Amino acid sequence: FQELINLETGQVTANKAVMVDSPLDKTKKLEVRVIDYTGDNQMLIAQDITKTVRLQVMRRDFVANVSHELRTPLTVLMGYLEMFNTDVAGFSPSQWQKALPVMCQQTERMSDMVHELLLLSHLEMGENVLTIAPVNVEKVISEVIDDAHHLEAYEQQHIHFNGQENPHWLLADKNQLRSVVSNLLFNAVKYTPAESDIHITWQVDKKQGVLTVEDNGNGIAEHHIERLTERFYRVDKGRTQGKGGSGLGLAIVKHILQRHDAKLSISSKWGVSTTFRCHFPITAVIEKPVD
Ligand SMILES: Nc1ncnc2c1ncn2[C@@H]1O[C@H](COP(=O)(O)OP(=O)(O)OP(=O)(O)O)[C@@H](O)[C@H]1O
Ligand SMILES: [Mg+2]
Repeated sequence: FQELINLETGQVTANKAVMVDSPLDKTKKLEVRVIDYTGDNQMLIAQDITKTVRLQVMRRDFVANVSHELRTPLTVLMGYLEMFNTDVAGFSPSQWQKALPVMCQQTERMSDMVHELLLLSHLEMGENVLTIAPVNVEKVISEVIDDAHHLEAYEQQHIHFNGQENPHWLLADKNQLRSVVSNLLFNAVKYTPAESDIHITWQVDKKQGVLTVEDNGNGIAEHHIERLTERFYRVDKGRTQGKGGSGLGLAIVKHILQRHDAKLSISSKWGVSTTFRCHFPITAVIEKPVD
């Protein structure tokens, strides 16, 4: 408060706002100001601005992250383009063969990222309308498993799924549900070593429908878990960078689930296993429709 009140003279600076930590709870930020009030009186106003400050930090981090993520592939592309520009005739077919796939890969990476960012921003603004209809969850899972076998990161992981004509379907947006399943399954494939086991289940009890993706890969250390659904958050930036992830997948999963009144829970034992569960409200679970 020293900026507001001169302790020696007792002089108060009116109408100036200062930001201080709350004396009761250091995690909260307060904006404190003194304003002139009736007569000789002055009033001290303290306002909790924790949320505003957090939003400002998030926005700053977000812009920094997007710029950083886009700059990496752009640097690679620019490097090649400059080389072509200086001496295109001097480029041998083998050099072209090396350069073009890298350029395609980096362009694809930027394009995927922009696509994910747009999807996230639509989801956050509640702009994209959900097309809710009965979805055969087991069918969606089977289709995503087929795709997972074609991933570059696929290293003969064993994907176990007993689709057994579950009589329970889900009222959901099919494309968005597919996005949830593919993000979770593709992560399990990307972040587990060769030959790991990945189990997917869709189970319904009296209270909820639960979609589970569990792997016995390297696990995730406890302190990362609560931050995993933040945009751009990756556990091991160096290691996952090579696998092309930008850290947006789980943020998208969280938002899609929120829009379906569902919740994501994550549990992991370092070096042992990781489990992602999507809990759907029982009101969204329906009996399989008759043909
Ligand atoms: N099954 C898993 N096992 C171990 N680590 C995981 C697993 N799933 C996710 N992670 C960690 O969580 C991080 C965030 O995952 P997320 O899907 O949000 O981003 P990403 O896979 O890096 O990028 P993107 O999905 O946008 O391509 C990953 O970078 C990885 O470090
Ligand atoms: Mg991912």
